[in-house]
Amino acid sequence: MEISDTWARLGIPNGHRYEVCNKPQTYRSPTAPQLERSVMTQIETNTLASDRDGIARAANVLRAGGLVGFPTETVYGLGADARNDRAVAAIFAAKGRPSFNPLIVHVADLNVAEALCDFSPEALALAQAFWPGALTLVLPLRADSGIAPLVTAGLDTLAVRAPDHPIAQALLRDFDGPIAAPSANLSGRISPTVAAHVIAGLNGRIDAVVDGGACGVGVESTIVGCDGTPTLLRAGGVPREAIAACLGGVLIDGPVGGTLTAPGQMVSHYAPQGSVRLNATNVEQGEVLLGFGHVDAALNLSPSSDLVEAATNLFAMLHQLDAMGAVRIAVSPVPDHGLGAAINDRLRRAAAPRD
Ligand code: TXA
Ligand code: MG
Repeated sequence: MEISDTWARLGIPNGHRYEVCNKPQTYRSPTAPQLERSVMTQIETNTLASDRDGIARAANVLRAGGLVGFPTETVYGLGADARNDRAVAAIFAAKGRPSFNPLIVHVADLNVAEALCDFSPEALALAQAFWPGALTLVLPLRADSGIAPLVTAGLDTLAVRAPDHPIAQALLRDFDGPIAAPSANLSGRISPTVAAHVIAGLNGRIDAVVDGGACGVGVESTIVGCDGTPTLLRAGGVPREAIAACLGGVLIDGPVGGTLTAPGQMVSHYAPQGSVRLNATNVEQGEVLLGFGHVDAALNLSPSSDLVEAATNLFAMLHQLDAMGAVRIAVSPVPDHGLGAAINDRLRRAAAPRD
């Protein structure tokens, strides 16, 4: 089914606070000109404390069909009830996200996931080894899942993960249902690793954000397709090496840079405002250096060359470069093993041609 048909069937907005046009205005951004952004009304975005009361309020917003930013161990997610088409449509509108790009559903644990998808033996082994954690599995969607069709953007597979963060877990257990959540940034922009990033991008477009401090991992989850031979669709918080070891070495590398099997793999993504030059071993005039290791840099991902520390700092420092008004950004070489693969993937997208 075409997503536009689903939106038309829903008759959005009709009294709802989020105005999702059936024919969205074409939004021409210098960084992501291909995106369409729907018109939205401004609403008040509340910052909620990460205590029991704040989480109860956040769960109530989700029950009412609203949108809530919340921390996970990777990045902040923008959550909606995954069974509510209208709420899920509001995610696409708030982010300006292309409607063909499906969402990850977050669950409390494997039991909940098994009611939504079919687990192959390989998928089960991965979930048992890495959940809760920074691993998303793409699995055949069960016919009786109850997941809103907009979540999968027309695919017959579902991306699902159990996050390893006390606030995300508390929210999932209070809400007692699956939460669809992309990263809580405007589409094509840098993922948020603190609540202030969420507010900077989405204030007035979402109902609330739960402030749970900084995310520990700092890059998004690793995505593995398990609809057939396990395939790495996106490098992320769990290193490829650990996944391959769990699978006895049977792991195919998915296409880098984007096909329809991995619709989120858009080439230009995770973009700061300034241009980005990779593998820089010198600094040219007018450039600001984002360093790695023992270099003299304006900002350094990890002076001690620690890839875990670098992943944690990556998005926050790209946000800082935006705040500094950096026009030309040079980035030191980052080794490509372990979390370095995810860091380099995000940096390549940040550096990709914008139009
Ligand atoms: O760490 C994360 O994964 C964060 C936190 C919030 O959980 N979420 C996140 O979501 O990064 P998002 O929407 O920014 O990226 C989800 C990726 C997209 O590239 C999307 O195309 C892909 O997952 N995806 C979702 N469903 C898919 C499916 N059925 N098949 C292939 N790719 C899928
Ligand atoms: Mg994202």
